[in-house]
Amino acid sequence: MTTAQDNQSPAPSPTAADSGASATVAFKQNAARRGVVASSQERVAGIVGDILSAVRDVIRSHDVTYPEYQATKAWLMAVGEGGEWPLVMDVFIEHAVEDQVSQSQNGTKGSIEGPYYLPDQPKLGATCTLPMRADEKGTPLVLSGQVRDIDGTPLAASEVEIWQADDDGYYSGFAPHVPDGNLRGVAVTDADGHFAISTIQPAPYQIPHEGPTGRLLEAAGWHPWRPAHLHLMVRADGHRTITTQLYLATSAYVDSDVASATKPELFIEPVDDGTGVARVTYDFELEKA
Ligand SMILES: [Fe+2]
Repeated sequence: MTTAQDNQSPAPSPTAADSGASATVAFKQNAARRGVVASSQERVAGIVGDILSAVRDVIRSHDVTYPEYQATKAWLMAVGEGGEWPLVMDVFIEHAVEDQVSQSQNGTKGSIEGPYYLPDQPKLGATCTLPMRADEKGTPLVLSGQVRDIDGTPLAASEVEIWQADDDGYYSGFAPHVPDGNLRGVAVTDADGHFAISTIQPAPYQIPHEGPTGRLLEAAGWHPWRPAHLHLMVRADGHRTITTQLYLATSAYVDSDVASATKPELFIEPVDDGTGVARVTYDFELEKA
């Protein structure tokens, strides 16, 4: 077990600007790792042309005024200045891209990656405990299962990467009071493709809402909450990686996720084993690359 030590202090709320800046840095680092893919001129003209056309249609159908246009410009500028574009994109847009891309992927359902993924986390055993504080708050949770090909073949030495919020709804790397690497790690499956990850149940959390993203939510009368979830990225040699989330079925906000990223196939219902530990099994099926 790896332990990230630190006293569990009362959770100060990271500001939207802090979280936004962290998400921007993380995105740039991840983008550099993934490389840049150029689209053809024809595709850029087609996609951007249709976006602009759709915006003009909305202006006409809603009879948009000059003050509303200027307010929109000011908001767009504030999102950029606050470093909140990764947040805005992942909360309001990514789910549609993920839905579209997953049409051509068989096996376990995917969900959005979101802005809080950080690469290069420690590889742990098939049976492991995520790095956490000595006094980590929350209900102990064991997520176990098997990684298989969609033909049923167990996938040994596949990687089940997990990252999640803590019991107060904060992610390490994006909240200064949470130690780096807290509740992040990679389980490596055994010879039969099995894994068992000990962690704590995450809490629902509000996306950063003190900045321009929050002002938009408030202006529209929308809430800023995501239901409790675990983020997962499952990798195996020769197979397509699956990025997904598992949602606690009994969590608040499962029916009104601000990021619109829940899917019924991804709900889990951990059961107390009688010792205060909640346990749940979830298997992952990957198709060949
Ligand atoms: Fe999340």
